[in-house]
Amino acid sequence: LYTVDCAVILKHCVEHGISRRSVRVQKYRGRAFNEDEAPLLIGRSGMEVAVTRTVSRADVTVSNERVSSGIGQLDTMLAGGFFRGSTTLITGASGTAKTTLGGAFAQAACQRGERTLFVSFDSDCSEVVRNLASVGILLTPHLDEGSLRMISARTIAGSAETYLMRIRNLAEAHQARCLVIDPIYLDSKTAGDLMAQRVADQLIDWSKSSGRTLLCTRLLDENSNIKDGGSPLQISMIVDTWLHLNYLVQGNERVRTLSIIKSRGTPHSNKVRGLHLAHGGVTLDDTWSRDSGAREGTP
Ligand SMILES: Nc1ncnc2c1ncn2[C@@H]1O[C@H](COP(=O)(O)OP(=O)(O)OP(=O)(O)O)[C@@H](O)[C@H]1O
Ligand SMILES: [Mg+2]
Repeated sequence: LYTVDCAVILKHCVEHGISRRSVRVQKYRGRAFNEDEAPLLIGRSGMEVAVTRTVSRADVTVSNERVSSGIGQLDTMLAGGFFRGSTTLITGASGTAKTTLGGAFAQAACQRGERTLFVSFDSDCSEVVRNLASVGILLTPHLDEGSLRMISARTIAGSAETYLMRIRNLAEAHQARCLVIDPIYLDSKTAGDLMAQRVADQLIDWSKSSGRTLLCTRLLDENSNIKDGGSPLQISMIVDTWLHLNYLVQGNERVRTLSIIKSRGTPHSNKVRGLHLAHGGVTLDDTWSRDSGAREGTP
């Protein structure tokens, strides 16, 4: 090794039954170089290396344009919607309507004529389409006309990096401007949270640097403490907007609620709103503002 000017180490190991390849430049005489190990994938289009953004591409152009969340009342709470090119996380317990909000965002994007990719990690695409139709979110016309592409991540096998690169490739091939990942679930069969966190970081970094508006959902059980940053993976720290869905039991009825935990650069509402699902669509009401300690005057 000491005689050569450049040494590149290729590694292949199997962790928890999952194959993982990586590449690392060990030395490169007379040059500054990235010393980190980078995931390496071999796919149909050849070899791909997942490298982080370089300094030359550090600053992306930010936009002041707002894009709709797909729910008019939520747009009002967000002072117009999400920023174009921003990332949003929706957390909530099972059944709190995370997929529904993801579907509403995708439908609105397609209605604006923007190409959109919807990645489902927990269901087949046909199930998502059927279930969303129950709340008036009709995706079939957009699938037929080609602006919407849906994939089930169940069809992807491998490490967290494999998921990341497949999603990236699909989004690029589809020229998607908007992207929904429901739920972001990268730590399933892989080497643990640290790796999953890194991959989630890379995914968010990639979507930002390419100007794509990303919405991900994440299951957060009712006992997790949001105040302590209870979101698994700490994705909440790097996203621009964090919406949380919850259940409240009122009398003998379970009521869904929605609140905005943060939305960078936005004078957003601090109220906890009731979230209602019906055949006609998704609506928000003010039921919970009194008890939530919300400031008066916010929408
Ligand atoms: N037409 C309808 N009217 C009222 N409620 C409905 C209707 N259709 C679906 N729902 C409710 O919406 C819920 C589904 O919401 P959704 O799938 O978006 O939740 P989720 O948070 O993604 O759940 P999961 O954690 O299981 O993925 C159903 O469980 C049902 O309670
Ligand atoms: Mg869901």
